[in-house]
Amino acid sequence: MFSLLLVVIACAVSQTLAQSQPFGQCGGQGWTGPTTCTSGWTCVPQNDFYSQCLQQTVTTTSAPTSSPPATSTTSKTTSSTVSTSSSSATVTGFPASAPTTPPSKLVGQTPALGWNSWNAYQCSINEAKVLAAANQFISLGLKAAGYQYINIDDCWSLMARNSTNKQIVPDPTKFPNGISGVASQVHALGLKFGIYSDAGTATCAGFPGSLGFESIDAATFNSWGVDYLKYDNCNVPGNWSDNSLPQNNDWYNSNSAIRYRQMTAALAAQARPVQFNLCLWGNYNVWDWGTRVGHSWRLSGDSSASWSYITSIISTAVMHAQTGFFGHGDMDMMEIGNGALTIQEQRTHFAAWIMLKSPILLGTDLSLLNATQLAIIKNAELLAFHQDATVGGPAVPFTPFASAPTTNPPEYYVGKSSKGTHVFIINTSATAATKSFVFSNAGLGSSGTFSVHDMWTGTDLSGTYAASATFSVTVQPHDTVAYFIKAL
Ligand SMILES: *[C@@H]1O[C@H](CO)[C@@H](O)[C@H](O)[C@H]1NC(C)=O
Ligand SMILES: *[C@@H]1O[C@H](CO)[C@@H](O)[C@H](O)[C@H]1NC(C)=O
Ligand SMILES: *[C@@H]1O[C@H](CO)[C@@H](O)[C@H](O)[C@H]1NC(C)=O
Ligand SMILES: *[C@@H]1O[C@H](CO)[C@@H](O)[C@H](O)[C@H]1NC(C)=O
Repeated sequence: MFSLLLVVIACAVSQTLAQSQPFGQCGGQGWTGPTTCTSGWTCVPQNDFYSQCLQQTVTTTSAPTSSPPATSTTSKTTSSTVSTSSSSATVTGFPASAPTTPPSKLVGQTPALGWNSWNAYQCSINEAKVLAAANQFISLGLKAAGYQYINIDDCWSLMARNSTNKQIVPDPTKFPNGISGVASQVHALGLKFGIYSDAGTATCAGFPGSLGFESIDAATFNSWGVDYLKYDNCNVPGNWSDNSLPQNNDWYNSNSAIRYRQMTAALAAQARPVQFNLCLWGNYNVWDWGTRVGHSWRLSGDSSASWSYITSIISTAVMHAQTGFFGHGDMDMMEIGNGALTIQEQRTHFAAWIMLKSPILLGTDLSLLNATQLAIIKNAELLAFHQDATVGGPAVPFTPFASAPTTNPPEYYVGKSSKGTHVFIINTSATAATKSFVFSNAGLGSSGTFSVHDMWTGTDLSGTYAASATFSVTVQPHDTVAYFIKAL
């Protein structure tokens, strides 16, 4: 601990007098270095822990139909510096020679269900906390409900690789039995084990990243028994960044995608199938190419235990609705159990991740969850919708009745499962109004008779309805109702 502290102080001292260099870190929780960038570069927050100096780019003329990377969107209001290269044919990656290996089809068909250490513990992790979560999966019935993955996030290793074999070295204080020791105990419980690395030179917290070490790290992870990899995007060297649009707006051949493709190929060369999560915070149009590179991809920066995060990520996920199996937009780890979300907001949090088919990685100290919260995350009918083996796609917004008002995020969703049709309704505001929908508007056809089954309580509601009939319900503030519509 003392030597780590000295390194941190030494870095801070050497950097306080300077501005951050291009692509260097310039902010984030715990960052004590410079917070401004050299001339022509802007400090752009990437997540709570990492801000990076990025160049301002032209986003107006060359490619009207494409979205620029979120990083350049952030800085486009100040256009004093203009990169002239963005409209030329400059290709800075190596698309011709970059691997095109697809992710494994042995895992990741339906969105992952599990736990990740970050939201509960950040860097304060150790074997005991990870194994506690694994054991709680058994004792709390979470494994029986379908939760599988126990994943360690950032801060599990030493600051330096092994100088001889270049492997990342687990921190022996946090993990006295190594990562393989934790993985084998997780496996012994019938669960799967995940780890974290970064497609840059260092992780967001400054531990070794895998860029340039993909094969070594994939082989190491394989030897330890790793089943899931969350792959972050901090500390990317300048020549590997995307500060302009890629050629032909083909983000699969952007530098960012190529960095991730190298790890996809390295993982595929190992015996163990690994579920691969691309953590690029919704940048670089990852939804256009994520399914070719990984099993899931983050849609935004880091989650927070707030209603505003929940509504904003629902809006994003709706815009980038996924097509089905083996490719899932990741709305980030769960906040149930953290912060001051009301129980209605926690229900909406869970229901939205379910209906939009996001991975669900619980992110709290599981021992703190009360019976109401456990009932939410173990709801068998909602989990069955999420894990449906024959219908892969998410629920999508629908217009519940003629000239219904539009809201952001949308409040009415219809989704298919192997059972039939489901309707989800979110009350996003405190506006006094009853929520209503006409059955035929939910894709149920113009004839037939229906009844409504409440997925939260597992009970049938009274009444039968014609296709043209209107169903109405009062929804609590920020709550979500979840229905299976029975065709009679
Ligand atoms: C960036 O520079 C490194 C070191 O010179 C080199 O190995 C790598 O191929 C470069 N990457 C790109 C995308 O140019
Ligand atoms: C580093 O690698 C060498 C060679 O494989 C090995 O003998 C040594 O124990 C490793 N050191 C650590 C700290 O893991
Ligand atoms: C569990 O906590 C929530 C707040 O997160 C509260 O609304 C609910 O009533 C609690 N349930 C029980 C059984 O204590
Ligand atoms: C939201 O819930 C509140 C409280 O139950 C209710 O008064 C209101 O009508 C609901 N809003 C909508 C838009 O359904």
